[in-house]
Amino acid sequence: MQGFHIDSSDARRAYPPVRLALIGVGGMGAYHLNFIRELEEQGLVKLAAVADPLLAARSAREDFESRGVHCHSDYRDMLDRNELDAVQIAAPISLHFAMVKDCLARRLFVNLEKPPVPLIQQLNELIRLDRTIRVSVGFQHICSPQIHALKRWILAGKLGVLREIRIAGSWPRTSDYYARPWSGRMAFAGEPVYDGPATNAMAHLIHNVMFLAGDQSESFARPWDIQAELYRVRPIESYDLVCLRGSFVSGMSFTASLSHVTEKAVPFCVEVSGSEDWVRIGNDGKTVESSSGIHEFPDAPDLNAFSAYHRQFIEFAAGVRSRPPSTLQDCLGFIMATNGALVSSGGIHDIPSEFTRIYGMGGDMGYDVPGLTDLLEGSLREGRLFSELGAPWAVSTGRVRLAELRTLDLEALMNADRALTEEVVADQIGGRA
Ligand SMILES: NC(=O)c1ccc[n+]([C@@H]2O[C@H](COP(=O)([O-])OP(=O)(O)OC[C@H]3O[C@@H](n4cnc5c(N)ncnc54)[C@H](O)[C@@H]3O)[C@@H](O)[C@H]2O)c1
Repeated sequence: MQGFHIDSSDARRAYPPVRLALIGVGGMGAYHLNFIRELEEQGLVKLAAVADPLLAARSAREDFESRGVHCHSDYRDMLDRNELDAVQIAAPISLHFAMVKDCLARRLFVNLEKPPVPLIQQLNELIRLDRTIRVSVGFQHICSPQIHALKRWILAGKLGVLREIRIAGSWPRTSDYYARPWSGRMAFAGEPVYDGPATNAMAHLIHNVMFLAGDQSESFARPWDIQAELYRVRPIESYDLVCLRGSFVSGMSFTASLSHVTEKAVPFCVEVSGSEDWVRIGNDGKTVESSSGIHEFPDAPDLNAFSAYHRQFIEFAAGVRSRPPSTLQDCLGFIMATNGALVSSGGIHDIPSEFTRIYGMGGDMGYDVPGLTDLLEGSLREGRLFSELGAPWAVSTGRVRLAELRTLDLEALMNADRALTEEVVADQIGGRA
């Protein structure tokens, strides 16, 4: 892999500032604004306009307008009324599909927050519309030094023949998280969301698996089949606990066990093993451990990765870099795994309340599944699903083949009690493996 950092002084000389707009200025958008300001200070970007319904309030516009940034409450007005090169989308997931289509219709470069879209049919349509490749998907973890070091070791053959990738972790989510109207939803305002640990908060990890399994420095693999169990603990529409296992045509397998329902966080761990050696990225990405010892990284990967990701996107939009960090096509493996997971699970299974407990109050109120931390560790150690580890609430599921996955019907797959008939499965997927 070539170095992914270009000295900003070289880049500054190479192109005029990219005229950028931001859709969504609150939540994640506020975080994006920090990086945009950094790039503005380096002369690489000019923030030309922002759009958010929040900007209908005069007070919300003042700071932007004082810096000459045009404010709009409707993003379509913003696209119509400004001279732009690129747009950063940090709006809720349910809006991504329409927003990307509107940007592509105007031939703009797009930096789209992850996850790109919830459904495989939506991703395929965007890939079709993005023939000349203008969209980059903000899975910033693939720009982290840790993940790139690991991919270099894999491609250099240091682990021997790659056998397995396992990931696990739990990022607790309390009532405050679910206060956003689209959180914990399968659909919002008639548009798909499919919120949950594997499809939103910890989606980076699934995308990383596809990146690490790709056989070229910049390629992403696509899984061949998947077996998954999706569970609901908090009374939400979507799921908050998942385990899945899949394989690639090469025979390599992967497992992921991801949760929002432990009281104490379980920092994520990515473990890659081959015929000769193993490497483990642990402690939410702060440590890399291998048979030769432990290497500490001073910062969580996000900080370095976000900065590198934004710079790469701007260099791509300016024509200095030939490809963005992650194209829509690069997300196919992630979408196949997460869409296939819901089909394999046959919907979302409720964990009965006798196996769960509530902690905290008000905005800090969360759900915990006693014993889950051990199950997450067990799945990381043994590559097994919760039902195979003997969890009393777990439900065993079937494996599904992903090659012919074309559409996912969220409505049909919302609840496990509306069990799927074989015909419905066959409609969505080429059949059970
Ligand atoms: N990369 C990461 O690590 C990371 C972390 C958190 C969230 N995200 C992603 O960022 C995106 C936004 O998440 P969030 O938590 O900030 O959501 P949010 O609900 O807080 O909304 C973000 C902003 O979008 C605005 N918005 C809503 N409707 C809009 C519209 N029609 N037009 C323009 N703006 C609109 C909201 O007013 C808000 O200011 C999601 O895709 C989420 O998955 C990514």
